[in-house]
Amino acid sequence: MRKPLMIASLVIANLAVAAAWTTPALSQTSSVWDGAYTDTQAERGAIKYRQECVMCHGPMLEGNGEAPPLVGRFIPDWEGTKLSDLFEKIQLTMPLFAPGTLSASDTADLFAFILQANNFPAGQKDLESGDGLKRISFDVRKPVMKEPKTDKRR
Ligand code: HEC
Repeated sequence: MRKPLMIASLVIANLAVAAAWTTPALSQTSSVWDGAYTDTQAERGAIKYRQECVMCHGPMLEGNGEAPPLVGRFIPDWEGTKLSDLFEKIQLTMPLFAPGTLSASDTADLFAFILQANNFPAGQKDLESGDGLKRISFDVRKPVMKEPKTDKRR
């Protein structure tokens, strides 16, 4: 009686796949992998970055010993948070010599630039400040489900 068991587990696996596909729509959350910013916005952010951040975080966002890098191990540190958390961190504490001086739209542009530098995909809509950011989760790993063709089955 091994075959029916196998079929049953296949059915269960498929149900799980279906559930994973529909959940984001139902709970209205999205991931940073869905395209949370636009390229134009990231370009604006890059200009701002050169004015306000580059002297500490470096031209390649590599950090300078005191200021941490904003690429690489930086992203895993924020795994599982919402984009609103990092947004607040930037707006309330950076630039270190003048915290609280960034406007919401400059913060959003800078955030877009940082996402782009970390190879998250751009989308059709600008990243906007506000409650919407609480619904975008910071997933470090690209969800395998989204692109079945490149599924490497790690
Ligand atoms: C005077 C130097 C300085 C400048 C300018 C500066 N930072 Fe920072 N930044 C730091 C230091 C030091 C830290 C680590 C302490 C902390 O997290 O508050 C930091 C931390 C951060 C973090 C959190 C990093 C992590 O690993 O969690 C982010 C994001 C960040 N900065 C973004 C920016 C942005 C965007 C700008 C430009 C608007 C900026 N910083 C300008 C020195 C600076």
